[in-house]
Amino acid sequence: MQTDTIALVQDSWKQVLPIAPQAAELFYQNLFAADPSLRILFKGDMQAQGEKLMQMISAAVNKLNDLDALVPVLQGLGKRHGDYGVRDEHYGTVGTALLKTLGQGLGPAFTLEVKAAWTQVYGVMADVMQAAAKAPATA
Ligand code: HEM
Repeated sequence: MQTDTIALVQDSWKQVLPIAPQAAELFYQNLFAADPSLRILFKGDMQAQGEKLMQMISAAVNKLNDLDALVPVLQGLGKRHGDYGVRDEHYGTVGTALLKTLGQGLGPAFTLEVKAAWTQVYGVMADVMQAAAKAPATA
């Protein structure tokens, strides 16, 4: 991953952090508006879920310079998502909802460059998670 892609994602995420609870809420609104059938997969308190999501994205964004450390974390996350009933086709819907939320949160700071950088980073995360969900349990 290119250093400017990483910098664009890390710098823009810093601008989201102060509004993290609102961004999480908006994200789930966007997600369930795009596909109401996904709601049933979420069993717990959505505020707590939003906090976990934002923490995980923060951890991932901070580790973009250290993929050796990030990949195993994402593999574990991807395997758990398989158990939650998450399927490959859901990743596209989530990615679109995430990009929409970032656009709403960042406003004019969500430039085409920032959008492209996030698209790439989400794509890498989703690829690693999806592959891990399909891998045998012993791998
Ligand atoms: C980069 C992508 C994603 C990230 C960073 C992410 C992050 C998280 C985190 C941190 C949790 C808390 C539980 C755990 O750590 O195992 C979680 C749970 C969950 N996520 Fe994701 N997720 C992603 C993609 C998705 C997708 C594509 C779906 C599909 C709808 C999804 C649906 C869920 C569900 C259903 C739960 C469990 C909720 C519950 O237990 O009630 N996530 N996610």
